[in-house]
Amino acid sequence: MSNQKMGTLAVHAGEDRIWAVPSVTTPVYQTTTYRFPDAASAAAYLTDPEGRWLYSRLENPTVIAAEGKIAALEGAEAALCFASGMAAISGALLAVLRAGDALIASDTLYGETARLCREVLPRFGVEVEIAPVTRLAEAAAGAPARARALYFETPTNPTMRVVDVAAVAAACRRRGLLSIADATFATPVNLRALDQGVDLVVHSATKFLNGHCDHLAGAVAGRKELLAEVYKVRRTLGATLDPAAAYDLLRGMKTLEVRVLRQNDTALRLARTLERHPRVARVDYPFLESHPDHELARRLLRGGGGVLSVTVKGGLPAVSRVHDALRIVARASSLGGVESLASIPVISSHRSASPEELAAQGIDGGTLRVSVGLEDPDDLEADLLQALERA
Ligand SMILES: Cc1ncc(COP(=O)(O)O)c(C=O)c1O
Repeated sequence: MSNQKMGTLAVHAGEDRIWAVPSVTTPVYQTTTYRFPDAASAAAYLTDPEGRWLYSRLENPTVIAAEGKIAALEGAEAALCFASGMAAISGALLAVLRAGDALIASDTLYGETARLCREVLPRFGVEVEIAPVTRLAEAAAGAPARARALYFETPTNPTMRVVDVAAVAAACRRRGLLSIADATFATPVNLRALDQGVDLVVHSATKFLNGHCDHLAGAVAGRKELLAEVYKVRRTLGATLDPAAAYDLLRGMKTLEVRVLRQNDTALRLARTLERHPRVARVDYPFLESHPDHELARRLLRGGGGVLSVTVKGGLPAVSRVHDALRIVARASSLGGVESLASIPVISSHRSASPEELAAQGIDGGTLRVSVGLEDPDDLEADLLQALERA
């Protein structure tokens, strides 16, 4: 060893021991690849459940731990993590659709998901039929024979329309369609979509699941046999979650229920206060009696969620003044973090929507979307009220 070159020591020493330490938390397995003790183990990779470690695009212990937690939260047989919500949504759709299939898609989807449906899937021979979010069960019942799946979000952005998940899932099952729900806004705390009968639930885990605005992540959960198809797409397209992000996602999910219950309470309180304000035309929040889906929301959801939309009288100029006057709520897109964020849909998430699309979705120029964080509810209320004085 005395003649051992330092370079070799520096590269290899200390790295070949396999640790089995009963740590309370799952460590970050910051590795792209795994050691095989011998050729037989390498050859047995696919068949030996103990020796399944090959390469981190395929599997990584920290990512698998996060997937186990998501499956448990959703009551799913299995879950898979992705590098972002869009990677998860693309992975799920590419796994279930084939050229010649039709996809029924809700008319109220996150902009990139809508673009995937409108521009990308048709290039691969998938016909996409758009259905109003309020008539998804009818769309499933009347779906053409080649329809393979139905895709929707609930609650929707930014008007918080709530889909009758059980009715839509049942209509899909009767017609032989797979139902896929993006439950990012609901979270598994407020809605267990698989229990309501959907086949796959997807999340932008960037939002509430991670909850701290510091990582992009996505997830798909559902039955093992469907997830096996999703896994094949993920390993080939390579949109796997990084282990460091998976660690933070795991940590974030430990407080998911506590965060979301608090966000539910604060959002409902703010929604009630803002609804009474003379400068406010409308507040969209599913647990308000004035919301068109109020009854359904109360029946289906544990809470109304952490996002509300407030429409100020006076359109974009008025809401821009409110937006710019906020002191505690940060002016930023995204949602679901511990920090409260506000954005104006017509100049952010819905900037490329046509006036007809905005009208169809009930989105006004004066709408401000607020994602409620964990700040003191009194402070948040005071901040929104002082900002509204500028409207
Ligand atoms: C409902 C919904 N689904 C999916 C996405 C996409 O997720 P990501 O930004 O993590 O790719 C978003 C992003 O805002 C979203 O709001």
